[in-house]
Amino acid sequence: MKGFFITGTDTGVGKTVVSAMLGVLLKEKGFPHVAVRKPIETGCTVFDNTLMPEDGLFLKNITDSAEDIGVITPLRFTHPLAPAAAAGLENTTIDVDEIVQSFRNIDSSTVAVVEGVGGLLVPITKTFFVSDLIKELDLPVILVCTNRLGTINHTLLSLEHMKTKGITVAGIIFNNNIITGGRDISIGTNIGLIRQLTAVPVIAALPFLDTINYNTLVDVSKTLDYGIIRSFL
Ligand SMILES: Nc1ncnc2c1ncn2[C@@H]1O[C@H](COP(=O)(O)OP(=O)(O)O)[C@@H](O)[C@H]1O
Ligand SMILES: [Mg+2]
Repeated sequence: MKGFFITGTDTGVGKTVVSAMLGVLLKEKGFPHVAVRKPIETGCTVFDNTLMPEDGLFLKNITDSAEDIGVITPLRFTHPLAPAAAAGLENTTIDVDEIVQSFRNIDSSTVAVVEGVGGLLVPITKTFFVSDLIKELDLPVILVCTNRLGTINHTLLSLEHMKTKGITVAGIIFNNNIITGGRDISIGTNIGLIRQLTAVPVIAALPFLDTINYNTLVDVSKTLDYGIIRSFL
């Protein structure tokens, strides 16, 4: 399978926005089949007796995917928790094979953009973590981090864990999703320091977007180092 697994240093760092940006970028570049996946989503709301996965639906809609949401997001939970915890509270168990099977219909002409859940050591079950899923799917990773104080530590820990697991990292995307008043002065030094502390390339530094839609994501995708993305496809 070709494509990318989008993970992050934490929840709320911009994985969905980056996955969407990558999806629209690949479409704009002329890849005929782009498959978005958010295989596990927690914190889903119930609508018409159906669990609505916000991220899965956003990725489906923005890439104009004809795939069923049940294929894009097969595992859904209501509790906004790590999957292992949500499944426990919802009296169910997660079948890891079922997740892997949901990728079966992706052929070699398709580029997959897969959003993870939380960060690398989020438990899907008590013995299977997000980084185990990445190993299973064998996709290169894009690591999303928020440009704020603390990100150096979170980014380096994430990279170190992936090195230990033998996971290929395509690059890091710094994301500015913090409104002006909430920003700290580390945004002036984070990217430069990360460039000095790791050989993993920083492939983009995304600005704060007032509006997130197809056009603004296409625009911002032009700032990304596409050569690195292309080299993995
Ligand atoms: N570059 C950005 N500019 C403005 N808002 C952003 C940006 N990136 C993410 N956001 C917002 O930040 C929040 C978290 O982003 P999201 O992509 O959902 O993170 P994650 O998938 O890692 O949980 C969302 O409300 C999203 O719309
Ligand atoms: Mg998300």
